[in-house]
Amino acid sequence: MSETVSFAVDPRLATLLGESYRSTEQALKELVDNAWDADAENIGITLPTEMSDEPIIVSDDGTGMTEEELRSEYLKVARDRRQLKGDRTLGKRRQVRGRRGIGKFAGLMIAEQMEVVSRARGRVSSLLIDRTQINATSSDFEAIEIPFSSTNCDPSQHGTTVKLSHLNRRLSHPNAEKLRRILVLDYGRATDFKITVNGQLTTLHDISGEAFSFDQSLPAMGNVKMSFAISDGKHSVKHPGIVIKVSGKPIGEPSFFGLDKQEDIPPQVLKRVYGEIEADGLLDDVTADWGAIVENSVAYGELERYVQDVLREELQKTFKREFNLVHARIKQQIDKRLAALPEHRRPFAHAQLEKILQRFYGENEEKIQSIVTVVLDALERDEYWVVLREIHNAEHGSVQHFADALTAFGLLELVFVGKQAKSRIDLLDSLDKLISNSATLEQQLHQVIEHNLWLLGSRYALVSSNRTMKTVVETYMQEHYKGKNASKRPDLLLLSEMHGEHLLIEFKRPSKTIDRDDEAQAQKYRDDFGTKLHPMKIWLIGGAVEKSLRLNSANQVEYISYTDLIGRARAEVDWLMKSLVEPPSTLKLALP
Ligand SMILES: Nc1ncnc2c1ncn2[C@@H]1O[C@H](COP(=O)(O)OP(=O)(O)O)[C@@H](O)[C@H]1O
Ligand SMILES: [Mg+2]
Repeated sequence: MSETVSFAVDPRLATLLGESYRSTEQALKELVDNAWDADAENIGITLPTEMSDEPIIVSDDGTGMTEEELRSEYLKVARDRRQLKGDRTLGKRRQVRGRRGIGKFAGLMIAEQMEVVSRARGRVSSLLIDRTQINATSSDFEAIEIPFSSTNCDPSQHGTTVKLSHLNRRLSHPNAEKLRRILVLDYGRATDFKITVNGQLTTLHDISGEAFSFDQSLPAMGNVKMSFAISDGKHSVKHPGIVIKVSGKPIGEPSFFGLDKQEDIPPQVLKRVYGEIEADGLLDDVTADWGAIVENSVAYGELERYVQDVLREELQKTFKREFNLVHARIKQQIDKRLAALPEHRRPFAHAQLEKILQRFYGENEEKIQSIVTVVLDALERDEYWVVLREIHNAEHGSVQHFADALTAFGLLELVFVGKQAKSRIDLLDSLDKLISNSATLEQQLHQVIEHNLWLLGSRYALVSSNRTMKTVVETYMQEHYKGKNASKRPDLLLLSEMHGEHLLIEFKRPSKTIDRDDEAQAQKYRDDFGTKLHPMKIWLIGGAVEKSLRLNSANQVEYISYTDLIGRARAEVDWLMKSLVEPPSTLKLALP
């Protein structure tokens, strides 16, 4: 006997689908997307006043839906409209935002009830979706009865209003600023789509960060009005840059007016700029297709210089401020090492390091730290200064000589870093040989690693090596040693200045597998340090690691094989070498 079976869809699917948004504001954006797709020009959102039980109302003047469209298009779950109607809207040829045919359920995450009233072609139709009713229906989706009505209306009316009532009490009250911020990042560039939240138009001032406005009269072009924001970087800006508007119409794509090709502003900061310039004086210089400004326009050249100056100044201020905050810790270390240099060398060294920090701005702290230590190592060598002196002397000599010296200097900066990196690779290679030799003893590896702490990730400083517990405690803790291991010697004791934590390392022969006994020994040392050198991590480094250790690892203990250690260090050096060849982050604009 054969028969067919079929899926049954539990109505709760609807509420599940609506629950995949991070916040009420994100969910509301889904309804705004629907208005965009309906070619609306104006959309108004009214949020309830605090502590009230007023509804949220989202109202648009788009094409609206007829009775038939409400039934067949709106209520169809997971229908892909782009497959049916293409990915441009009919009237305004906008890129369609709707994707999965489930956006409408966003409303059900926020509210118990969702009423949709839509006007199109002389009919006003409405329906009411109720979350409780859906969740209480145990049978199939199709069995849910949705109240629906339709009557005549003025044929000139069009648009849709969604009313969300009995808001979900588990969610915090919707926030107008947050909503505007989310919306402006996505829709701020659209000229024919105005969004108001609680009666207030969404503008680029809603971007969280700093906002700037400048009014200026330029000799060739007349008045320009420039406004832009530098976002705080927490949310990515969709189409960064500054767009030129002539008679209210944007010309071409947003740009950075050449600042993206100059070195003094890191791309990470540039990517957070969002703004526009009203420059009606360029009207005669717009190309026929309204897509660009004539390249050799005198007025445009003037505007470009003006914008560059203003933007550079504000970006540099922002950058300096943040930069000092972010790099405060690294700077402390730098200052310490710079203090050890002869005084006449310090200013140069300082400038070099600033350049490096700037170039790698936005990279993670540990990576920056590793490149900084490499550069500091280079700066401590004499050859570097020969070239600097050359430049200094050249200033009094011929222009050509000076230029050559500068070039050498620029290259040298990289050559030294490169040399350092190369010597690290050589060291890793010999370390590889050392560990594959069964006769190698832990003392040999101990020595190499102690003198090349960068192998451990470049953030540790030596506290003690191979000293007795008694000595360590009495020297570093200024305390009398009371434990039982007075004459025992922990291998290495390190301190991470950045994180204020200690690291105790025990080395084993490369032919030995680390086991529980090794761990116990190290733990005993740690116990003896008590609370004074706390927190303290333990690394046990050996030829291999017993499986059971990894399975049940102890708190704050890492078991590392020499092969792993070398692998990690190699990855770091590889990164370094690569960053020398290519800039750390290239600026790619996401264009609409
Ligand atoms: N505000 C609106 N105005 C006109 N039509 C709408 C509106 N909201 C939804 N619709 C219609 O309902 C359909 C389903 O919407 P939705 O569930 O958000 O899925 P999607 O947007 O992915 O198609 C849309 O494709 C559109 O045809
Ligand atoms: Mg949608």
